[in-house]
Amino acid sequence: MKNLKTLNMCTIFLLSVLVVQVLCDNFSTINLPEEHLPYYFANFPKVAEKCSKDDDCPYKNNLNAEKCWGYEYNCKWNKQYSIPPCPGDHKGWVKTKYAQQTTFYAQADFGYVKQQLREMRVLCEPLFPDDSSLECSEHLRFCRGRNIMLNFTKLASREEPIRYKMDVLSEGDIGGYCDFYKDKLDENADHISPLQSWGPEMRYFTRLNRRPIVEGDCDVVIEKPTFIMKIDASMYNIMFCIHNSSIYKICITNLFTSMLRKIKYCNFKFIQHFKINFF
Ligand SMILES: *[C@@H]1O[C@H](CO)[C@@H](O)[C@H](O)[C@H]1NC(C)=O
Ligand SMILES: *[C@@H]1O[C@H](CO)[C@@H](O)[C@H](O)[C@H]1NC(C)=O
Ligand SMILES: *[C@@H]1O[C@H](CO)[C@@H](O)[C@H](O)[C@H]1NC(C)=O
Repeated sequence: MKNLKTLNMCTIFLLSVLVVQVLCDNFSTINLPEEHLPYYFANFPKVAEKCSKDDDCPYKNNLNAEKCWGYEYNCKWNKQYSIPPCPGDHKGWVKTKYAQQTTFYAQADFGYVKQQLREMRVLCEPLFPDDSSLECSEHLRFCRGRNIMLNFTKLASREEPIRYKMDVLSEGDIGGYCDFYKDKLDENADHISPLQSWGPEMRYFTRLNRRPIVEGDCDVVIEKPTFIMKIDASMYNIMFCIHNSSIYKICITNLFTSMLRKIKYCNFKFIQHFKINFF
């Protein structure tokens, strides 16, 4: 698993990773807003190098800008995408203006993403390429999975609404075929309330006896990177709604979980590569 790139919850970055995968022969697959290009090339120096050597690469002006979003481990404060302005008096909150800015950065900006990435731990480890995997940050606040099966069969016959409910999934409704470290997951399933973490759902993760996608156990396989979000307040109920009542068991090859409030820096206008499923 060490070679498994940890990804952050920000779709901008995710988009970049995808682009790298499909980049083999054509820069036209880089479909990013102009403003994002310097950050993209800074994060993927190999692609930047390829571009610099390729006469047909149209992005030469964006190759050498020293920029970073702010979650990268080596990102300098003055090079990051934005430095929180924090207007107004800091007194009463923190000692200095800088402390006010770094607090904002750590709690509501890319600093938060950086911390989540640092915390990522493997909870279910693949042994072969087709296997599933699951990794989460502390308290299961953010998870990333591959080849994960979600079984929504029970929801189809559920009468009561699921908003703010913690029994949307039950034992075995989520799982994968991998080496499952259940004790590690249980240890982190300690923030059990509806919008606090993915604990209420992930605590039911089970090791499957076979590979769900290979064995055809899923009614639908979603191959595009997929975010499942918990959306605060009245919109929470769209998270697990089933669009097509004949679809019950869904496999997701690239799963990311997030809370909407934590990915406010992602610009959804640009997520063309994704199918976003609001279950
Ligand atoms: C690159 O992609 C564009 C648009 O998809 C296409 O028109 C062009 O032929 C491609 N070039 C190569 C070398 O594949
Ligand atoms: C999905 O859940 C339903 C209802 O609990 C169960 O009957 C079925 O066996 C499950 N399917 C799989 C593949 O786990
Ligand atoms: C629902 O899914 C089934 C099976 O994939 C498909 O045959 C049917 O057309 C779908 N219905 C709608 C309304 O999308």
